[in-house]
Amino acid sequence: MPVGSAFEDLAARYDAWYDMASGRKLFDLELRCLRPLLSGTGPPRLEVGVGSGRFATALGIEVGLDPARAPLDLAARRGVRVVQGAGEQLPFADHGFNVVILVVTLCFADDPAGLLDEVRRVLRPGGSLVVGLVPGDSAWGQAYEEKRRAGHPFYQGAHFLTLADHLGLLGRAGFEVVAARSTLRQAPMDAPVDEEVREGALSEAGFVAVAAGTRWRGGRDEQTTRATR
Ligand SMILES: C[S@@+](CC[C@H](N)C(=O)[O-])C[C@H]1O[C@@H](n2cnc3c(N)ncnc32)[C@H](O)[C@@H]1O
Repeated sequence: MPVGSAFEDLAARYDAWYDMASGRKLFDLELRCLRPLLSGTGPPRLEVGVGSGRFATALGIEVGLDPARAPLDLAARRGVRVVQGAGEQLPFADHGFNVVILVVTLCFADDPAGLLDEVRRVLRPGGSLVVGLVPGDSAWGQAYEEKRRAGHPFYQGAHFLTLADHLGLLGRAGFEVVAARSTLRQAPMDAPVDEEVREGALSEAGFVAVAAGTRWRGGRDEQTTRATR
């Protein structure tokens, strides 16, 4: 992420979206997608690309990392233990976290594949990765792409990835999807309405949450095998 990004310069504006009527409704639907995928998990948990900490706080994630300082200050005020850094070079020891979450962050990373390699490194064997994403091939992804082209500050640095792109990146990094939930099958609009959250990863949905574990082979976690070889 380039220095001087909109997330740094306009952190208060980004954060204020969560308190608008439309932001509150979308946030609630997205939390209803993510929360069940985290049930039964325990600390330590990390959000990479934590921003101002809205999801971390609502989901009980203790540690948050982001390259941008200004949103981290807001997250810290919400009680998140914050660390400044890039997801592609996580400043954490191997296998230290039970859970890592990424919420609409992979599409902003310079190197999403490298970021996922790092996530895998810091997850303990048997740990979980939970990814919240906007499929670039959904109506919502296309609406955000149009905003990006029109110069919207927050979308300037985004490369909207399709659902298949995300699943391909996860598979290549050695993650296996174990559960998924989708919402926002309604058209993008200023006044979103309540909606059912469905099981599964639906590319027509505007928000998909995916839980993945590290792949097992022959009864052993590949990550453990690699780490001990
Ligand atoms: C759309 S915001 C999402 C923030 C938060 N997860 C949320 O949903 O409110 C994307 C975040 O990714 C962060 N980001 C950009 N590049 C990153 C990278 N290479 N590693 C980690 N985070 C990054 C940005 O600074 C920004 O806070």
